[in-house]
Amino acid sequence: MGQNLVQKIISQHLVAGKMVPGEEVAIRIDQTLTQDATGTMAYLQLEAMGIPRVRTKLSVSYVDHNTLQTGFENADDHLFLQSIAAKYGIIFSRPGNGICHQVHLERFAVPGTTLLGADSHTPTAGGVGALAIGAGGLEVAVAMAGGPFYFNMPAVIRVNLHGRLSPWVSAKDIILEVLRRLTVKGGVGKIIEYGGDGVATLSVPERATITNMGAELGATTSIFPSDKVTRAFLAAQGRADDWVELLPDADATYEQVIDIDLGSLEPLVARPHMPDNVAAVREVGPIKVNQVAIGSCTNSSYTDLMRVAAILKGRRVHPDVSLVIAPGSRQVFRMLADNGALSDLVTAGARILECACGPCIGMGQAPPSGGVSVRTFNRNFQGRSGTADALVYLASPEVAAATAINGYLSDPRELGDPINITLPASFPVDDGMFIFPPEDGSQVEIRRGPNIKPLPLPQPPEQLIEAPVILKTGDNITTDHISPAGAKYLPLRSNIPALAEHAFEGVDPTFARRAKEAGQGIIVGGQNYGQGSSREHAALCPMCLGIKAVIAKSFARIHRSNLVNFGILPLTFADPADYDRIAAGDRLTIDLRAGLGQEEIAVTNVTRGFTFKVRHGLSPRQQAIILAGGLLNYTRQQAKGN
Ligand code: F3S
Repeated sequence: MGQNLVQKIISQHLVAGKMVPGEEVAIRIDQTLTQDATGTMAYLQLEAMGIPRVRTKLSVSYVDHNTLQTGFENADDHLFLQSIAAKYGIIFSRPGNGICHQVHLERFAVPGTTLLGADSHTPTAGGVGALAIGAGGLEVAVAMAGGPFYFNMPAVIRVNLHGRLSPWVSAKDIILEVLRRLTVKGGVGKIIEYGGDGVATLSVPERATITNMGAELGATTSIFPSDKVTRAFLAAQGRADDWVELLPDADATYEQVIDIDLGSLEPLVARPHMPDNVAAVREVGPIKVNQVAIGSCTNSSYTDLMRVAAILKGRRVHPDVSLVIAPGSRQVFRMLADNGALSDLVTAGARILECACGPCIGMGQAPPSGGVSVRTFNRNFQGRSGTADALVYLASPEVAAATAINGYLSDPRELGDPINITLPASFPVDDGMFIFPPEDGSQVEIRRGPNIKPLPLPQPPEQLIEAPVILKTGDNITTDHISPAGAKYLPLRSNIPALAEHAFEGVDPTFARRAKEAGQGIIVGGQNYGQGSSREHAALCPMCLGIKAVIAKSFARIHRSNLVNFGILPLTFADPADYDRIAAGDRLTIDLRAGLGQEEIAVTNVTRGFTFKVRHGLSPRQQAIILAGGLLNYTRQQAKGN
């Protein structure tokens, strides 16, 4: 039987398990990436594993999230990352070199390889046909140490793109259409594989916009074939030798097939506060806008920003709008400077930010209170912008640029004649902002400023967990809710005890205090608990506050793994109706005496006097991780045993 793209890559990297959807598989990892907000923890964990040098083909440490130098903390982190990269054989991408996913796509992503990244938008590299998966920093550390990556074999959904986009409609509108159809839960346990005749009409950066926002579907990853378009892109980056053709077999099978007629799409927008709250710009109407932000790992490529520049050329940003633009990489920035497009942007009134995540992670440019921001980013969760009551709309660069001129949400088709921007035959390649590691890093001294705190480690669970429900949440709790992003919090990412003080701050400001007073606690959640980023701080902070278990209706994939890796039991209600029978403050006992080998575990609500069942769904390996007190302890035990 023929294989799809996903099966082809996984079978070539399979270390354990069978490629049956839902079954645990382990794959060999070729490349890893980290960014600074998750990287410090990942490298502390790598260091604790006691290996002299990374065992991957290529590992890159990017600094892109926390580049605002507001205090010594960020500088401490950057020095630590630079020195530890040199010691362990990791390429260091300096602040200013660009956003990890954009830069990785340009310089390192290779078709047919596996990439594990400590960032949820790692699937961006699926735009060149890599199997690129986001994971917690600890799992990335294990991969750097040569260990395989374990995950449940996803089902593969095929999305057939037919025809060609109409003028003023872009790749962002394709992924917004997929989000509209599948929702933020629709990709959980799935990989989205793109195909169809429309694929050939999309450039690699356009494909990468689509695979990037597959993360918002909850998908394990998304992937495009590697074809002539991919070859041309890699050749233009001076990497023709990295190209291999990668196509699905003609008789490949899929769990589900979705067809999208590209010609029928129109400019779309995701309304507050979820990426799947999608409507046509035309239907939403001309709402007044305070800010337009263009950039992020979703839409900051050369062609994205050239389209914006072409729209702004000879026009003025509306006086009521603040337009901020962050190029995705130094390469993109330089191209805009060299060809004069930067001048067009500045003349129109755009504010140019450095090549980094910036406002996407709440690092500056928070919208005004109650304001409206139109962004080319991938997430519009409430509060992520840095302003709790701001309304954030996600849209294409074309919609964003038209909006910046008019001062209200605008359909770019009103601008008139279409613009035609194509990729150049060659990009200006300059790897001068990478620091490549020395052959022998054994003498490198790791720089550890006061912001680099020791790694907190979990304890193995008790046989009978008895603890109060510290917090009961609704559905779709994000990692931003659990461990907030933004300028106030990012500098604390290497200092877990300090960061933990802010856990769930926007949901319940008393959470950290009450959890610490209780000594240990349980969280009860709704559907899709932990969606959003890969940050393991969303598990580390609750762990640090004594949280032993989260009982939810369902979990987001990466967060569930992070909970296991830090020794917190992720449990789902056997009967979701039991969720309604529990209140915050109730005292629960979770009975592990029968062992994790049982499919169902009894939980007693001591306060209300009833017992209900929960499921852990843990593989034997994950059970062993929980019993060892987390993945780091487990990995060390395994290393000793071997
Ligand atoms: Fe950075 Fe935002 Fe992407 S934080 S990695 S630009 S999702």
